Amino acid sequence: MTFLAPKLGERTLFPNLEARAYLAHAGISPASRPVQEAVAAVLDAYSRRGAGALMEWLPVRERLRQRLARLIQTQPQDLALVPNTTQGVLNIALCFPWKPGDRVLIFQGEFPANVTPWMQAGVEVSFLPLPRVRNPEILSTLEAELSQGVRLVAVSAVQFQTGLAMPLQEMGAMCRRYGAALFVDAIQAAGVVPLDVQGAGIDFLTCGSHKWLMGMEGSGFLYVSPEWVGKLRPRMAGWLSHEDPLGFLSPGGACLDYQRPIRKRADFLEPGTGNLLGHVALEASVALIEELGVPAIHAHVNSYLDALEQGLGRYGFASLRSARRSGILSVLPPSGWSLGDIHRGLARRGIICSTPDGFLRFAPHWPNHRDEVPFVLAAVDEILRQGS
Ligand SMILES: Cc1ncc(COP(=O)(O)O)c(C=O)c1O
Repeated sequence: MTFLAPKLGERTLFPNLEARAYLAHAGISPASRPVQEAVAAVLDAYSRRGAGALMEWLPVRERLRQRLARLIQTQPQDLALVPNTTQGVLNIALCFPWKPGDRVLIFQGEFPANVTPWMQAGVEVSFLPLPRVRNPEILSTLEAELSQGVRLVAVSAVQFQTGLAMPLQEMGAMCRRYGAALFVDAIQAAGVVPLDVQGAGIDFLTCGSHKWLMGMEGSGFLYVSPEWVGKLRPRMAGWLSHEDPLGFLSPGGACLDYQRPIRKRADFLEPGTGNLLGHVALEASVALIEELGVPAIHAHVNSYLDALEQGLGRYGFASLRSARRSGILSVLPPSGWSLGDIHRGLARRGIICSTPDGFLRFAPHWPNHRDEVPFVLAAVDEILRQGS
């Protein structure tokens, strides 16, 4: 087991990482040594004892719930562990107590995970413009729509292509004033942008683990506010959603009962056997994030991005970074340059970033050191002088 403490700007816990500068945490994060070890320990136990290993690993779910609750400032019982962000959206889209004529508002440019489920929920979906500029007039656009009658607003805490961090606090207050629920996709924020679901009056929040939380794919969580949990229809319930769901498996036996009530707790949305490997991976990665603290990670990442943004600006890249900081710096290449060529040129030089929806996106996390920035800029210089 690795007992090394995580340090901002140090990648000792990522000894296998090949990239010289790994800047794709808004896509998929690399697995740290503690994550590798946590997964290996579960596999080892199950390979030796099979079902006998079950009890040893049961507490991991509760520990994970506690850590995630602290991360978004709520209580563990408000969380359901779900397979991914989309499943969290689907759960609410399908269980929400919709009324005829209900309308959902979504900002244009939203990642499709937070769009498709609402479109399948049998409600009207309206798209609000979100201009791709710095500091867009988000709140006035939102208020104008809310005043026309809206049941739920679905938004990403951070926009995946531009990195714009949405004003959740103000949006939450505004939604409350107009009687609309606020649903947040937090996968581009949790782990790098401080979140406070209760302080912001967020009703629902969903998040996958493989980006800024640095867990593995196929694991995530859903927050359901206490105010809503009793009002949801149990359309996504399964055998583990009942009260005392395991009672019929105990040695007493003969108490199979399909009519046991469905729990009035967020974890009724854990309908079947969970993703244990995903849970231990996420617990290990969130433990590191907790130790460092999200505000410190946010400051660290933004000091890196300040230097990178300034340097790229000198080469004619146009930044889309908003004053409302996230962990993302998205840029457009200098005129005449193709995004693909620059992206490939960087990858060839060991710099991994991504290209969502026509932007070049840089997303460092706590292990990235600011010393990488001159290396990235030297690579950009070389690409622009020589071609990719
Ligand atoms: C804003 C946003 N939401 C959701 C997802 C992914 O959703 P899921 O975890 O369901 O794959 C991504 C990226 O993959 C994203 O950028």
